[in-house]
Amino acid sequence: MTISLSRAQSIAYIANADLPEPVRDEIFAEETRVTNEVLNPRGMSRRRVLLVGGAGYIGSPLTQFLLARGYDVRCLDLLLYRNRDCVTPFLGHPNYQFVEADVGDARATDAALADVTDVIILAGLVGDPITKKYPVEHQAINEDGLARFIDSLDGRGLNKVVMVSTCSNYGEIPPDALADENYALKPMSLYATAKVARETQILGGANKVDYCGTVLRFATAFGLSSRMRFDLTVSEFTRDLFSGTVLQVYDADTWRPYCHVRDFARALSRVLEMPSNAVRFEVFNAGGDANNYTKKMIVDAVQRHFPQSRYEFVAGGFDRRNYKVDFRKIKERLYFEPEFSVEQGIVELIGALRQGFFADYAERLLFYRNEELSYKPV
Ligand SMILES: NC(=O)c1ccc[n+]([C@@H]2O[C@H](COP(=O)([O-])OP(=O)(O)OC[C@H]3O[C@@H](n4cnc5c(N)ncnc54)[C@H](O)[C@@H]3O)[C@@H](O)[C@H]2O)c1
Repeated sequence: MTISLSRAQSIAYIANADLPEPVRDEIFAEETRVTNEVLNPRGMSRRRVLLVGGAGYIGSPLTQFLLARGYDVRCLDLLLYRNRDCVTPFLGHPNYQFVEADVGDARATDAALADVTDVIILAGLVGDPITKKYPVEHQAINEDGLARFIDSLDGRGLNKVVMVSTCSNYGEIPPDALADENYALKPMSLYATAKVARETQILGGANKVDYCGTVLRFATAFGLSSRMRFDLTVSEFTRDLFSGTVLQVYDADTWRPYCHVRDFARALSRVLEMPSNAVRFEVFNAGGDANNYTKKMIVDAVQRHFPQSRYEFVAGGFDRRNYKVDFRKIKERLYFEPEFSVEQGIVELIGALRQGFFADYAERLLFYRNEELSYKPV
């Protein structure tokens, strides 16, 4: 039986009020399709999104965003960074479920995939330093565990599967170049090498698997989250200069794009809500052109708030990554542009630091940085 929704009943139509009317109409048509083809046969009234790695820095604000937008959220996470507290605010929410499990555990992921309509893959050992420090764990999670999980997704009647990748995959490009999605990938770490492999795996499913796969290459994140990561440039520089630490900045002229965690939540929901044919086995850089910054530009933006703070520029760091990214595709095809500038993110974080948040930084380095692990493969 086909059920016709009205625009007044369409959450996606209402929530995307900022988009041009013809695009909202397409989004409405997509929601009608999902209702008839995905939800009704399962007797479900809302989409249930499995957030794999949903208790981390990006997953925590994403959970809040998706719940507020009317999705059911099931989070599967191993809580590798003693980040159990990030789940607590959602426990008891009628539309939230938490599963503490390893993405490499087939039995657990099979159960977690039951009655799920869409999947967002965030889990993994995130960042060059932690994958370099823990190569065995990296192999078990980012290569074997995630490869197995992705292989297990076909044949379940899933709607959309979004794999979160990274602009780090571009590695090192000439200073006058801009990397669009077709730019040659040059992964320079175990982390990025595994991301490229998982992208290839997802994209290899085109015309073979029964779901609509999409890859988003995320810029480097900033912004407040219940799981802050102070091992990321904008937050690290801001906290260091706020706290009077003498900041050492390696290779100050290297470029990187940045994006606020709440903008990432908007980008992911846009992929879930746009018509499948706009995102089907496509790769999008996720971020905005205006947020391409050198490290020096970030130091300058933070230093304006703390003119007495001290820092030094150091040449010849071990991280040679240098990439400026072109975000035209996500803007033109998905109408996505970030709302937050890097400056706004800095102001937001300074406000929290001044109110005494993150004062336990020194005692909780395991929580605030992706640096230490205790992990046993399944
Ligand atoms: N933060 C950034 O700047 C950034 C930039 C580009 C791409 N990304 C991508 O975004 C995603 C999320 O990044 P984040 O910053 O939130 O990282 P994060 O480290 O804060 O979160 C990762 C989460 O995955 C969980 N996890 C790790 N291994 C797991 C396993 N085997 N099974 C189940 N759960 C596991 C961790 O417990 C953690 O909660 C990652 O895929 C990352 O590559 C992040």
